[in-house]
Amino acid sequence: METTDTSDALITTTVQSETSTRESRPDKTVITTDNLDVYYGTEQALTGVSATIPEKKVTAIIGPSGCGKSTFLRCINRMNDQINACRVDGDLSFRNKNVYDEDVDPVALRRKIGMVFQKPNPFPKSIYDNVAYGLRVQGRDVTDEDVETALRGAALWDEVKDQLDESGLELSGGQQQRLCIARAIAPDPEVILMDEPASALDPVATSKIEDLIEDLAEDYTVVIVTHNMQQAARISDKTAVFLTGGKLVEFGDTSEVFEDPDDQRVEDYITGKFG
Ligand SMILES: Nc1ncnc2c1ncn2[C@@H]1O[C@H](COP(=O)(O)OP(=O)(O)OP(=O)(O)O)[C@@H](O)[C@H]1O
Ligand SMILES: [Mg+2]
Repeated sequence: METTDTSDALITTTVQSETSTRESRPDKTVITTDNLDVYYGTEQALTGVSATIPEKKVTAIIGPSGCGKSTFLRCINRMNDQINACRVDGDLSFRNKNVYDEDVDPVALRRKIGMVFQKPNPFPKSIYDNVAYGLRVQGRDVTDEDVETALRGAALWDEVKDQLDESGLELSGGQQQRLCIARAIAPDPEVILMDEPASALDPVATSKIEDLIEDLAEDYTVVIVTHNMQQAARISDKTAVFLTGGKLVEFGDTSEVFEDPDDQRVEDYITGKFG
């Protein structure tokens, strides 16, 4: 039964044995929201959001500024716990377990659902220690192999393998962002949330991050907020469009959302009529 392995999903590492490619893989839901409302004090930031996020695919979240994209992302791994005024109503489940249930440990949840932010934020530590950090905070022993695996997974190993003792802050912006991705994948999460991960980067660094995101979706579920509609169209399998008022107005296969949206407001938004 699905419900019996849910709490385990928050405390153990699942073995992944997919062999098919991402495109041909049938959708299996990892995260479900049902009528999700989010408030900051009396201001409502998300209104009745119901969505299903498929496993090992890239789901893009787009929409105009202030429509609740970051709020939605932060709800998924309870990063919004740190915002006092924030209140969540409705259901948000990860592998059929409501992440807001009292018995869910947010630290264990974030081990399963990692996050990468807009501005690369490496710690003022060595490249090695930046990657090892994610494992050490869980009390796990760190091997050189763990660090190499994570850096390879973030397509950074070849560029830094001879300078692992140097500060992460010495790297270029794009390399710093890939270092943050290595730090996020080191604990072997299932889901990686990314909030505009390339918007502070130049076109070459952006292109590397986009390629990396597509590779990551072979092993992880990726949810990415982006302001860049071409980027969403290029790299995502599913697209969610939020509009003002924090409403999810369109959610489906990326090609359909961009080529034939159901909602006129979405058509206006993606053709640049507003936003
Ligand atoms: N910490 C906070 N405290 C109070 N209100 C907040 C907070 N964070 C966001 N909000 C409000 O919630 C709404 C949604 O904000 P959110 O940051 O989720 O939007 P967004 O779609 O990510 O915008 P952007 O594209 O500018 O990043 C906005 O009205 C914003 O002012
Ligand atoms: Mg945002």
